[in-house]
Amino acid sequence: MTVRIAVAGKGGSGKTTLAALLCRGLVERGVKPLLAVDADPNSCLPDRLGIPLQHTIGQMREELRSDPESVPKGVSKHEWIEQLIHQDIAEANGFDMLVMGRQEGPGCYCYINNVLRECMEKISGQYRGVVIDNEAGLEHLSRRTSGEVEIMLVVCHATAVGARTAARIVEMRDHLQLQVGQTFLVLNQFDGNLGPELADAFARTGLETLGVVPADPLVASFDVEGRSLLQLPADSTAVRAVHDMLKMLNERRLI
Ligand SMILES: Nc1ncnc2c1ncn2[C@@H]1O[C@H](COP(=O)(O)OP(=O)(O)O)[C@@H](O)[C@H]1O
Ligand SMILES: [Mg+2]
Repeated sequence: MTVRIAVAGKGGSGKTTLAALLCRGLVERGVKPLLAVDADPNSCLPDRLGIPLQHTIGQMREELRSDPESVPKGVSKHEWIEQLIHQDIAEANGFDMLVMGRQEGPGCYCYINNVLRECMEKISGQYRGVVIDNEAGLEHLSRRTSGEVEIMLVVCHATAVGARTAARIVEMRDHLQLQVGQTFLVLNQFDGNLGPELADAFARTGLETLGVVPADPLVASFDVEGRSLLQLPADSTAVRAVHDMLKMLNERRLI
């Protein structure tokens, strides 16, 4: 069984940080093989995981579009795209990494995106776990290049704006009829109490809170120093918070 976890939220809310820590935590819990998907065009998940820049699916798609004849004779376009995706998967630090990149150039991508989605679904099925770091607009989920997911984590700050964004993401999920098994809220960089008004605003999103990641000075300094979050000490508050969330998901038999 594959469990696909998509991380969604407003820009700057902590999606990439959470996605990186989820990868680390899942591998440590033995959820392997694991695939990390950077679905944010302003990609930085590889950076947070200490993985060098890599060829993206967007680049591959563009190369294929500008040179359709590059598909070898006797190979279907489907098979060829699947092979090209495999070539774009980097292996590093105990898991695999795929970067979606940008949708470049004008014109219609429907056909190629459909093929891509089918190939991505097939490939993700070969993994035990998939973590998808989404862009703020849920674009990849809506174009469905990443297909259905079992778990969606909505990351936000414990602010009124955070609660509104969470509500909007839930709306968008329903409006786009995204195939999401279960959606949870994750409050990031939060240490204190919500207070009645905020608690109420978050309750109105209808989302269950999976956990809280405190503001962790080590996360901030690793970011400034450009160090991989995989190198954070095991007792860092953020690492432990994500472990607790995974424990809860595990107890609920969701991972
Ligand atoms: N729990 C945390 N503690 C300290 N800093 C954090 C935490 N979560 C995120 N940050 C910092 O906040 C900034 C935005 O986080 P990031 O994960 O890149 O957000 P997003 O991917 O949603 O845009 C980064 O500089 C990151 O290091
Ligand atoms: Mg990000």
